[in-house]
Amino acid sequence: MQYAAFRSIGAYVPKNTLTNDDLAKMVDTSDEWITKRTGIKTRHIADKDEKTSDMGTKAAKIALERAGLKSDEIDMVVCATISPDYFCMPSTATVISANLGIKNATAFDISAACTGFIYVLAIAKAFIESGMKKNVLIIGAEKLSAITNYQDRGTCILFGDGAGAAVISATDKKEEAIVDVHTASDGTYADLLMTPNGGSGSAHDALDKESAGCYMQMKGNETFKVAVRTLTQDVRDILEANGIKSEDIDHFIPHQANYRIIKAVGDALKMREEQVVLTVAKYGNTSGASIPMAINDLYEEGKLKAGEMMLLDAFGGGLTWGSALVPFSPPKEKR
Ligand code: UT7
Repeated sequence: MQYAAFRSIGAYVPKNTLTNDDLAKMVDTSDEWITKRTGIKTRHIADKDEKTSDMGTKAAKIALERAGLKSDEIDMVVCATISPDYFCMPSTATVISANLGIKNATAFDISAACTGFIYVLAIAKAFIESGMKKNVLIIGAEKLSAITNYQDRGTCILFGDGAGAAVISATDKKEEAIVDVHTASDGTYADLLMTPNGGSGSAHDALDKESAGCYMQMKGNETFKVAVRTLTQDVRDILEANGIKSEDIDHFIPHQANYRIIKAVGDALKMREEQVVLTVAKYGNTSGASIPMAINDLYEEGKLKAGEMMLLDAFGGGLTWGSALVPFSPPKEKR
């Protein structure tokens, strides 16, 4: 049996920041309101000419180096993004592959919004366990500033840009293997979080008139409630299914949407404060990039050690959600 091991992590954070005080000059809001309701203080924003693939490429380069792999050893690249470089094609994953000199690899994007990184993790695990692939590069990269309406205070206070990447490789050692990944969705909640225009569901001649529909729109409070309910149950299910208790988790790394969602789910699961990884204050919500960016922070702070168990969870547009139990299994020579 070939198992899938989480070998390495990398991330890229754009240099420009957008603070709560900056936003208060753009819409009717305040640092006090944003801090109290979301826990966010700043977000990072990409340069105008900096594309999602540019950020994904930088994160992926670091992940490859930390996995001790060369470009020609990667046989699949999957990118989770809702802000791809191009509307339909080429995929962001193929652009990143070209930037890294990865040739002849399977490469594609997936759209699962903020749950994207959990989805690409599930895809990598399945391809490796089936024996079809050996080294899969997974990326979560977002230029959300490109699809954010900076006149809508209900969304623009939340979102930021950035990228994270990981290498998932085949192993015959069960103790190194990703334990479980759970992914789910409920399309009946589609209207809670969406970009209504720009796809085949909207008339192209309406685009000029209704360009605001190409930006994200969210029913924030309803989304919040479904998020807390669904995530709490989903994490309980994955722990129970695998006979793992919440106190056995070394690092709980939730999607960084809103501090209050993280706190509510963490409390319901009786997570201790030191188990919970928080980056929402400095990066805001970077959708599919938020989990790998948080894992990378943990790693660069020297707090993520070989063999430690990570519990990931995420929730986003679709609606989609998921969770994963992932031991950190860097290559022996990098431990
Ligand atoms: O990433 C994946 C999915 N996304 C999420 O999980 C995000 C989920 N939702 C949220 O994070 C929160 O719902 C928000 C931060 C978006 C909003 O917080 P809330 O506590 O749910 O606020 P609310 O929408 O219930 O609004 C409460 C009040 C309203 O005023 P009234 O009607 O009570 O007078 C809003 O108009 O706050 C007002 N408000 C604001 N005030 C200042 C809404 N946005 C703002 C703002 N600044 N930016």
